[in-house]
Amino acid sequence: MKPKQTGLKKGLTNYGDQGFSLFLRKAFIKGAGYTDQALERPVVGIVNTGSSYNPCHGNAPQLIEAVKRGVMLAGGLPMDFPTISIHESFSAPTSMYLRNLMSMDTEEMVRAQPMDAVVLIGGCDKTVPAQLMGAASAGIPSIQLITGSMLTGSHRSERVGACTDCRRYWGKYRAEEIDAEEIAEVNNQLVASVGTCSVMGTASTMACIAEAMGMTVPGGASPPAVTADRIRVAEETGAQAVQMAHDGLTIDKILTPAAFENAMRVLLAIGGSTNGIVHLTAIAGRMGLEIDLEALDRMGRETPVLLDLKPSGKHYMEDFHHAGGMATLLRELKPLLRLEAMTVTGRTLGEELERAGDGFPQDVVRSAANPIYPQGSIAVLRGNLAPGGAIIKQSAADARLMEHVGRAVVFENVEDMATRIDSDTLDVSADDILVLKNIGPKGAPGMP
Ligand code: FES
Repeated sequence: MKPKQTGLKKGLTNYGDQGFSLFLRKAFIKGAGYTDQALERPVVGIVNTGSSYNPCHGNAPQLIEAVKRGVMLAGGLPMDFPTISIHESFSAPTSMYLRNLMSMDTEEMVRAQPMDAVVLIGGCDKTVPAQLMGAASAGIPSIQLITGSMLTGSHRSERVGACTDCRRYWGKYRAEEIDAEEIAEVNNQLVASVGTCSVMGTASTMACIAEAMGMTVPGGASPPAVTADRIRVAEETGAQAVQMAHDGLTIDKILTPAAFENAMRVLLAIGGSTNGIVHLTAIAGRMGLEIDLEALDRMGRETPVLLDLKPSGKHYMEDFHHAGGMATLLRELKPLLRLEAMTVTGRTLGEELERAGDGFPQDVVRSAANPIYPQGSIAVLRGNLAPGGAIIKQSAADARLMEHVGRAVVFENVEDMATRIDSDTLDVSADDILVLKNIGPKGAPGMP
């Protein structure tokens, strides 16, 4: 059997003569000034998703610089390369249309180019799932680097952040509670820096899930985008990628059934986005695994919501970071976790939790004895409206609505809703149930 090729010798272009293929490859890369000595090192690919259209990834240049430093310090050769980048507000008709395209782009570029490990830089909603899907299929040692959350802003002394407050203020403006001048002021404050949305939306959910699954370095989920902590995480990620290449720690050793179970526990305990289920299902699918909705429902009954973050609670991601980030949460969840799950450090989740040491007093992550919500944030429903099953985010709903009888006021699609919802002639009362049809994958289109 031929020895497995590594580094720059990996995956040679097929000219029918391997020696010539390598000769040519080296000739071209030397055009960029590399020496033979540099080209002998293990290669770490760095997926660059920086884009002027994606402010959630606005720190990509600094992150890449730090990852490269980490790779070099650990004896590797960093090679950054672009893939497509998706931002929620800049993708028509919706970002969900592009998630699978991004996963294919990531997978194929990781597969086609010579690298022994890959650092995936992602953050905005669809990017982390797309990258984990692509990396899962490509199968090499892979490590996720989250771009990090944005800072919160301040509107007339009230703390604000995207995007729970975006809808809230827009609602006030539509209800004529605030005027055009004030809504323009709010517009300047909702996104106070580069980085991902500062509440527990899909981006923060996927960041926490990525760490829970062992796909980031410990503490990789929570540092805001513009902090020194985030840059240090990037340097550490680069160094870890070299170690993973050396150890052959491929992604299949990390994305195991235990990792997905931990992901579901964390999703439930953080009041995570329901989109998280859609993405977890897709990532698991790439590993030949299924997300069992029955199991999720069962876990939901025994997993309390512990994280006091908007929209289920009151804090923002930067507060979570100051409270110790995922280590604080995982410590509380410990009895419910699969501690034997492997992480990118080559140590198990349980070993990493031991290394993280004791916690400290804080008020962002509650104890299991004093939860935000006694059960998990998400429950699985079945019935004549959804024979195949449906997901409800019960932690964000008023408890008295959990069992409710009322008239259905139905909107056919988003346009119908936008046209009629503010109309004085709409026949609706507080006890009615608003139903919005055609908002799923086949609807709007692409579940906006
Ligand atoms: Fe990028 Fe919210 S729009 S994370």
